[in-house]
Amino acid sequence: METQTKQIKPQSQVKLNCDQVYNLWATEPYLIKLFDIRPEAEFKAAHIPGSENISQHNLIQAMDHLNQRLAIIIAPEEDEAALSQTLQGRQDYVFMSQCQRWVKENKPLAGEGLQSTILNFNQQKKKGATMKNDIIFHQLFEPESSTYTYIIADKKSKEAAIIDPVIETVDRDLKLINELGLKLMYVLDTHIHADHITGAGEIRKRTQAKTAVSHEANVDCVDIPLEDGQELLLGDKKIKVIATPGHTNTCMTYSFEGMIFTGDSLLVRSCGRTDFQQGSSEKLYESIQGKLYKLPEDTIVYPGHDYRGHTASTVGLEKKYNPRVGENKTRDEFKKIMSELKLANPKKIHEAVPANLACGRKVESRNLNPQLVDGIPEVSCETVFGKQEQVKAKKIKLIDVRNPDEFNNDLGHIHGAELVTLGPELSRFLEKGNRDDEIVFICRSGGRSAAATAESIRFGYKYTANMTGGMISWNEKRQPVERN
Ligand SMILES: [Fe+2]
Repeated sequence: METQTKQIKPQSQVKLNCDQVYNLWATEPYLIKLFDIRPEAEFKAAHIPGSENISQHNLIQAMDHLNQRLAIIIAPEEDEAALSQTLQGRQDYVFMSQCQRWVKENKPLAGEGLQSTILNFNQQKKKGATMKNDIIFHQLFEPESSTYTYIIADKKSKEAAIIDPVIETVDRDLKLINELGLKLMYVLDTHIHADHITGAGEIRKRTQAKTAVSHEANVDCVDIPLEDGQELLLGDKKIKVIATPGHTNTCMTYSFEGMIFTGDSLLVRSCGRTDFQQGSSEKLYESIQGKLYKLPEDTIVYPGHDYRGHTASTVGLEKKYNPRVGENKTRDEFKKIMSELKLANPKKIHEAVPANLACGRKVESRNLNPQLVDGIPEVSCETVFGKQEQVKAKKIKLIDVRNPDEFNNDLGHIHGAELVTLGPELSRFLEKGNRDDEIVFICRSGGRSAAATAESIRFGYKYTANMTGGMISWNEKRQPVERN
């Protein structure tokens, strides 16, 4: 432990101004911890997203859990001298100066009223600065899928919308909406998600809200199939719908009062993958560069997910710093980056996509109940053998993806199986096929058929599975084979 008492540096050296704090907050949030020591009511009314409200009394204790992060303290200027005294000897904190500029420059805020005193919000209003004091905004997080859910509302009419709710956190979200006294008008999904099940259907059941998603999704149970350019009203304010296809063909960005909710199209310093659900890197490039980057640079970007602790960004910051799709990246560079990503399928894709096409109702797979292993749905050869009736009735298709000479070699093939060799032949087959078909892929030992299953998912198939162990296991279990 350090025993030598260090002289606190002069205040000019231990202060970060609003822009410095903002840059850290937007780009390296895991390096800092924001402590807001204003009274609770003021904090509740408006605060910097991610900051923690704490009393002076508890500050030192909280700072002992910083884990090498830098504490940034937001405090009334008149309190700073006393605080410096309390924190004497510590070098792991700074004060934030010019706090009011955060509001004046329309930087992201969370809170119920977006009015405060220490940040001089009211004073700024009198000076005519533009402020978002007539909306309510909350950013919520679902940790399992790292999904952000947003509640936005018009303060006067109390009319609200929720964006991208997750089924597991519906109770939490509805409780907050209730506590805020809001009238929920819309449940908006930014797209048909592959990594979590939407809470839209459940929320509609429990409120008067209408569900809305892109018309491209062809979801029968949705109330408002959205078109590009459509507008939804919250009081006298508008949510504008911008079609931003590319991550999926159903992606919509919602624009509201200087903020955009981009789903998985534009993420903080990243963007959504484009390798399944009718994704297209060409279209995503056009959506981001041609539409989102044309918005004012200070438009705040609220993403659908973040895996590194970011909460928001701006159009200007993404244009400058997004390593995949910054404004200096050409279409070809972007396409190359996206084609080289080679990501595993989301863990829940086989459960989530069919459920989300049914407004969040869980859809059981029809004949088989595959287990997900590394994102690939799998069934055993005994299960397949037990479904011979369904194969005969063509309710399940067996697709053998080996080469023609293997189909009739000593391992033979399963009665009813169709030979479609992995490669261009399988791709053509999948392209033409019905995405609702229930298919089991088979090969010699289960490797090629796993690749075929992954490919089918990328094509949008919802009920496909890999037979583990392939024809080797099938023969080991002495199940019947055919050879022509
Ligand atoms: Fe997504």
